[in-house]
Amino acid sequence: MKKKRMQSLIVGNWKMNPGSVLEAKDIVAKVKRGTKSFLKAKVVLCPPSLYLSEVQKALNGTRLAAGVQNVFTEEGGSYTGEVSAKQAASCGATYAIIGHSERRKMAETDAVVTKKALLAIRNGLTAIVCIGEAERDTQGKYLAFLKEQITQSLATLSVGELKKLVIAYEPVWTIGASAAMSPGQVHETGIYVRKVLSDLYDPVSASKVPVLYGGSVNAENCEAILKEGEVDGLLIGRESLVPADFIAIAKIANELK
Ligand code: PGA
Repeated sequence: MKKKRMQSLIVGNWKMNPGSVLEAKDIVAKVKRGTKSFLKAKVVLCPPSLYLSEVQKALNGTRLAAGVQNVFTEEGGSYTGEVSAKQAASCGATYAIIGHSERRKMAETDAVVTKKALLAIRNGLTAIVCIGEAERDTQGKYLAFLKEQITQSLATLSVGELKKLVIAYEPVWTIGASAAMSPGQVHETGIYVRKVLSDLYDPVSASKVPVLYGGSVNAENCEAILKEGEVDGLLIGRESLVPADFIAIAKIANELK
């Protein structure tokens, strides 16, 4: 039976953009104005952590939330340049993207990802753990890859911690690309991801973990991905920096039956 859609999670990953805090304030003001009445789309903005306090200040008192794009593997100490989950939470973040493929490319292993996810959750953040294959072969080897990546990336998480977990399935070959994955493929892979979670934990706990899709999402393809792909939300890169486009995506998600 098809799961009843409660609300879609629409997450904007700004990456290392925009170039100034003034521009960041402009984006957040526009997105806030365009989405603050939405009840069925939960909008989360993940700016560079330097801008977090400003973004959080602007979002205060709204249903929109702020998140970070990474946290460090330790709570604090002599780690020049790093930001901990505890610090992010103290500046108002409630979400943390963990293990994005662009970080995994910089040698972030599953062992590091699971440590970060655990610290994020223990500090009260919802961890959005990113997974996704680099390429799709015809023999289905990517399925074994995904299973291993999910298993290892969640290795430190107990069943209780699943309540603060979101999985973002982002096939690496669709990130920053010209086209998203087809809704049919998103649907199939979403089922597989949920099956792996269910085998690792239990079917009831696994069914409550939101599964998002990310990779070249835009206002044209988002409805089919959400509906036919049956995902619980979207992780959006480029389009999250263009307020009108991001608002259009969130509006479609908000009005989805
Ligand atoms: P994109 O990025 O929407 O620009 O493809 C998605 C992501 O990296 O999360």
